[in-house]
Amino acid sequence: MSESPPPPPSWSIGNMANSAIQFMRLPVLASSGLAVVASGLLYFKQNELIYPRNVPVDARTNVPSPKDFGITDFEDLQIPTPDGESLHAFFLRPRQSRYNLDLTVLMFHGNAGNIGHRVPIAKALQDTLRCNVLLLEYRGYGLSTGVPDETGLKIDAQTGLDYIRQRPETKDTTVVVYGQSLGGAVAINLVAANQDSGDIGGLILENTFLSIRKLIPSVFPPARYVARLCHQYWASEDVLPRVTEVPILFLSGLKDELVPPSNMTQLFAICQSDRKVWRALPNGGHNDSVAEPGYFEHIISFVTEEVLGDKK
Ligand SMILES: *[C@@H]1O[C@H](CO)[C@@H](O)[C@H](O)[C@H]1NC(C)=O
Ligand SMILES: *[C@@H]1O[C@H](CO)[C@@H](O)[C@H](O)[C@H]1NC(C)=O
Repeated sequence: MSESPPPPPSWSIGNMANSAIQFMRLPVLASSGLAVVASGLLYFKQNELIYPRNVPVDARTNVPSPKDFGITDFEDLQIPTPDGESLHAFFLRPRQSRYNLDLTVLMFHGNAGNIGHRVPIAKALQDTLRCNVLLLEYRGYGLSTGVPDETGLKIDAQTGLDYIRQRPETKDTTVVVYGQSLGGAVAINLVAANQDSGDIGGLILENTFLSIRKLIPSVFPPARYVARLCHQYWASEDVLPRVTEVPILFLSGLKDELVPPSNMTQLFAICQSDRKVWRALPNGGHNDSVAEPGYFEHIISFVTEEVLGDKK
């Protein structure tokens, strides 16, 4: 399967719906007093729903290695964060250095699984762009320490970028930040906070949402009355318009069954970057858009025309 698109992961944010429904099936909503208890549980349980890091069940221990996908030139890293966590990461070098475009892709994964499940995507990016790739595992995921939450994941993202900035072979490269679903929200925040430094050449967003708070009522219908208790915001619709200095590629699977593609359309509409590119994948679902024809071609043309075309 050397050049073929990576297989779609068979799990994602959708698992949240199942666990939420199982969780809410407790007969407590019958009594209003107990409903308060249920809401309280949801309040504290929501991190488990929003960040299902134990999906699939062995995701905290079994992180497939790049070796499993035929990659030999990589490093298996533990990167310390300023607040004392240790983040697992893979650093992949370009396979043919003569094609090195002085580019590093920083990859942020969706809310389930771990970086090992995304190695095929990293490999496809590396094969097509001949770039360095850093796959970063958020706190609480895979072999990283800690517990995920919005504040922590933002620190993790910055830690990943700062790592690229200090590593000798990547510190002078142009960085492209790539995020799928929840990773899109992580990527938007990171780029908004770092766009003035000049080293971020592009942002790639795939099937991401306007905000987690807006997503909750539709992804977990039983939870719609307590959505106001949601303490994880990921307010991309507020942050994205601040990104004005970086070209942005929107990859939208029009068959996304989890995040309505209109969320991506709306993000595109409010985007204030004068270099924004919209690419729809007509048959792309939430988890499998990456396997759609044209996906990596869209990335190549974006990087060639908008990211490197701009390089002075
Ligand atoms: C995406 O993941 C969800 C949740 O596990 C699953 O129910 C759904 O079938 C997956 N979709 C695809 C197209 O793989
Ligand atoms: C975005 O997705 C949420 C969650 O499904 C939905 O409730 C909302 O209407 C969508 N908004 C837009 C503008 O598509």
